[in-house]
Amino acid sequence: MSTAQEETKALFRKAVERASRAPSIHNTQPWHFVVRPDVLELHGESDRQLRALDPTGRQMVISCGCALFNARVGLAADRVVQVDRLPNPAKPDLLARLTVLDEPARWTPLVRLDPMIEKRHTNRRDFFDQAVPPDVIYELINAAEQEEASLVEITTPEHKVVAAQLSREAEAIQNIDPGYQAELQAWTTTDLRRADGVPVSAIPRTDSRFESEGLVRDFDVSGRGWLPRLRQSSLSHCLMVLGTAKSTRSAWLRAGEALQRILLEATRLGFVVSLASQVAEVPSTRDRLRKELGLDFHPLLLMRIGRAAPTPASQRRDLNVIISESGD
Ligand SMILES: Cc1cc2nc3c(=O)[nH]c(=O)nc-3n(C[C@H](O)[C@H](O)[C@H](O)COP(=O)(O)O)c2cc1C
Repeated sequence: MSTAQEETKALFRKAVERASRAPSIHNTQPWHFVVRPDVLELHGESDRQLRALDPTGRQMVISCGCALFNARVGLAADRVVQVDRLPNPAKPDLLARLTVLDEPARWTPLVRLDPMIEKRHTNRRDFFDQAVPPDVIYELINAAEQEEASLVEITTPEHKVVAAQLSREAEAIQNIDPGYQAELQAWTTTDLRRADGVPVSAIPRTDSRFESEGLVRDFDVSGRGWLPRLRQSSLSHCLMVLGTAKSTRSAWLRAGEALQRILLEATRLGFVVSLASQVAEVPSTRDRLRKELGLDFHPLLLMRIGRAAPTPASQRRDLNVIISESGD
């Protein structure tokens, strides 16, 4: 292997390290990377797809899009990168191919997001009672547009109530399915050293005396959540909806890249985010959300944005488990 190839390999390992810290549905980390001499491949790992929650694989592909964005950020300071998305129709799990070009990198806004990768964590706590300034909202919308996705703020109280009600309805529909419940149990963990799954240290306790507002998914299946029970109304927080014009695998991948760009920008600007995708996981509530909010795109998830006390990081799988190397 030439020195240039050794260098590229080292860059790819760094990119995968950045990618591995991405958020993913239930922290399933449904990705695998193949390092080739000049190309880094991102594959979806369908063994990690949540079959009950995510029969179409949409959440899995969005999660992989988040990892792809982190890989792009990890390479941005060093080299110009060409990204080919879904390059082989015969291999739908080959989601992207990254090739580093023989050009020195120019500065791009991705470079300043690299230090945010470790700082970002999903924050399911109550948020402080502070408005999100319009310039921050503008930056987040711009981040989504840069990645060909749409992000809009849900501003009216009526629409916020609709979003919360539909989320609650979606979760009620999901909870009837024993398969959904089993996945929730399997992917919520008290073992804080486990390399995947949502740790109880990052979920609020739920209390049957208080009806959940639907915006924070109820992970507390066995009453083990460590964070304090939510007290405030999430409806007073800044609420945004992310979506894409098309509902295809390639649009979902782009949505994931947009999601991670938004999350890292929010982190850079000093804000935290909590995600709620249940409303889009159930076809009937997804359609109604689109209709009742008058959205001109397919909604994919809701985001609550604000400031809050920190929450601990969740674990990630070891790099050696998610990378394989190939000589050709
Ligand atoms: C596509 C997608 C959907 C998600 N949906 C939810 C959700 O509905 N509720 C929630 O609390 N977290 C949701 N999350 C956040 C994940 O649970 C979180 O990223 C994962 O547990 C890893 O934790 P971290 O984000 O703190 O690194 C979602 C993440 C992704 C990428």
